[in-house]
Amino acid sequence: MKDEGGRVPQHVAIIMDGNGRWAKKRMMPRTYGHAQGSRTVERICEDAYRLGVRYLTVYAFSTENWKRPPEEIETLMDLLRDYMKDCIKTSKKNNMRVRIIGDISRLDADLQESIRALEEASRNNTGLNFQVALNYGGRDELLRAAKRLAGQCLRGELTAGALADMQEKDFENYLDTRGIPEPELLIRTSGEMRLSNFMPWQLAYAELYFTDVLWPDFNKKELQKAIDYYNKRDRRFGGI
Ligand code: FPP
Repeated sequence: MKDEGGRVPQHVAIIMDGNGRWAKKRMMPRTYGHAQGSRTVERICEDAYRLGVRYLTVYAFSTENWKRPPEEIETLMDLLRDYMKDCIKTSKKNNMRVRIIGDISRLDADLQESIRALEEASRNNTGLNFQVALNYGGRDELLRAAKRLAGQCLRGELTAGALADMQEKDFENYLDTRGIPEPELLIRTSGEMRLSNFMPWQLAYAELYFTDVLWPDFNKKELQKAIDYYNKRDRRFGGI
């Protein structure tokens, strides 16, 4: 809850779209758009926390993004590399806890190491919980969860009976987001109206907010608009 009027969703998820078009409009390479988008990420973390958001998750690199040209992938990885390193200091300053969701095993060894260092350094911070989805795909996350369960059954750590009795809450412990409440609001920038394999399990009941604003132009005012939209929704959760 916040004094600006109305409820603030505890967890907001964002599909940061439109970096390429933002750069194209300025006759600049797409990679310039990603660099600007990265600065927007840093600003929006502070803005979200000031508005009362406690968990923020952003889609930085999907399992499908490997299909992009190699130089664009390299730029994105370099931006993420810089982010993980710089963030050790910033997360200390602003008390932010950072976690990565997604399969990081496909990333370069040094990036994996920076991720582990940042997660470890920020694990006791009590401010914003910031999740970065990196080599993340919702279907991949569910498949990895199923394989982990199968592995536990094969090793005798989980009985077939326990698996058959499994409830949704138990299954959530096998997702990358274990321990993190599900988002109440999903924002996608740049006018596209799709989920693109982003958190299908966790977003099952979320309000969806789409804006034409391109990600590098997204700011506190736009975030407030999304929160206002969320406030106007009448939630029934399957009831009447
Ligand atoms: C989609 O825009 C954006 C991405 C695939 C990458 C998002 C990454 C960042 C904002 C930078 C790094 C992130 C962090 C957490 C530091 P697009 O390129 O598909 O845009 P387009 O649809 O206009 O081409």
